[in-house]
Amino acid sequence: MHHFSYRNGQLCCDGVGLTALAEKHGTPLYVYSAATIRENFRRLDRALEGIDHRICFAMKANSNLAVLDLLSREGAGFDIVSGGELFRVLKAGGRADTCTFAGVGKTREEIELAIREGVYSFNVESEAELEFINEVAGALGRRAPVALRVNPDVDAQTHKYISTGKSHNKFGIGIDRILGVYEQAAKLPHLVLRGIQTHIGSQILETKPFVEALEKLVPVATELKARYGIEFFSIGGGVGIVYHEALASGQADWWKRAEDKRIGFEDYAAAVRPLLAGLGLKILLEPGRSLVGNAGVLLATVLYVKRTPAKTFVVTDAGMNDLIRPALYEGHHEIVPLREPASGAPRGPVDVVGPVCESGDFFAQDRDLPELAAGERIALLSAGAYGFVMASNYNTRRLPAEVLVDGDQADLVRERQSWDDLVRGEKIPG
Ligand code: LLP
Repeated sequence: MHHFSYRNGQLCCDGVGLTALAEKHGTPLYVYSAATIRENFRRLDRALEGIDHRICFAMKANSNLAVLDLLSREGAGFDIVSGGELFRVLKAGGRADTCTFAGVGKTREEIELAIREGVYSFNVESEAELEFINEVAGALGRRAPVALRVNPDVDAQTHKYISTGKSHNKFGIGIDRILGVYEQAAKLPHLVLRGIQTHIGSQILETKPFVEALEKLVPVATELKARYGIEFFSIGGGVGIVYHEALASGQADWWKRAEDKRIGFEDYAAAVRPLLAGLGLKILLEPGRSLVGNAGVLLATVLYVKRTPAKTFVVTDAGMNDLIRPALYEGHHEIVPLREPASGAPRGPVDVVGPVCESGDFFAQDRDLPELAAGERIALLSAGAYGFVMASNYNTRRLPAEVLVDGDQADLVRERQSWDDLVRGEKIPG
């Protein structure tokens, strides 16, 4: 479910008109719906009722402090992948002991910070990292809690750049070697074996790959519990969302069609529950996209309509530096005008492109859209996950602003960068 819909001819987020927000804060502008994020979290939480679990939001998907605060109040922990993300959790008032620290390349500085702050677990990706964490913990006179990330060698059936659970991916330790590596880890004096973790990929639209992974891993987790008394099993994130036709005139209609196309949290929970119920381990989940993806839009303004004999280009003030998913993963984002087009309004195929000097700077190609004119505002939908967080200053463009809408209230939760921000920290020698 999400809270974006046309009301009286204007695209709104709950009670707030998006045109007014664009006028007030300028574009490009990210707008998030607090109600959507909250509902997603509660829905997943409810679907898992009866299983001892904790939802650790994969904050790489959206790390704005206001979003972290909102989820932390709901009871979420966090899946972090850098010292910077831990810093953000603490800034947002979240607790380190609800965080799992993942990633293949943790540095000494990051490991020290995480040990000092008391993270719940390091999700370790290699033997070399195990030994390094042991050494860093020893030097601090502490013991570091660890889980090994297991690569179950299953095909997540998703884009190759966001698939992680096959043996040729850089992630995790092969399932065939995992018990041996735990044996090694058990001998390291400054580690505590706390759990086991896996994550097979992102934007997964069916339950089968999750079930396949768990069928392989449950016996391993059982064995590890018996041998080392581990207390948790993190089953990662990866539940996909609907990108196509992400807006319909009737919300109920949208939701029904969305449910037909992706796995809902209830389907996901129903598929994994039988495998996890009897384990006696705390189940951790690391959803990112499924909590925030449909909860955000990127607003942009049409600068020019450029007609050539080959194509019509709609040039917007947002570019690939603001939202890179189409360029990087061929990601699809629905594009809708903020002013609802009249039924029967003229349409046609256009390329919606940004101002960045790259041919890859497009949001849509040959997309059938209602006719757009310069000055008109549009929304790129489902941009709440991996949107702002992947934005860059490429072409020396300022990072966009972000707004959080909660009911009738809209708060600017990140200011647009200033020109001075663009050169902060730089120096001309001499
Ligand atoms: N856990 C781990 C260890 C992960 O690597 C990820 C995502 C997640 C959880 C959360 O996965 P989610 O529930 O969001 O699917 N930038 C790409 C997606 C990259 C995903 C990276 N890892 C995109 O825009 O599609």
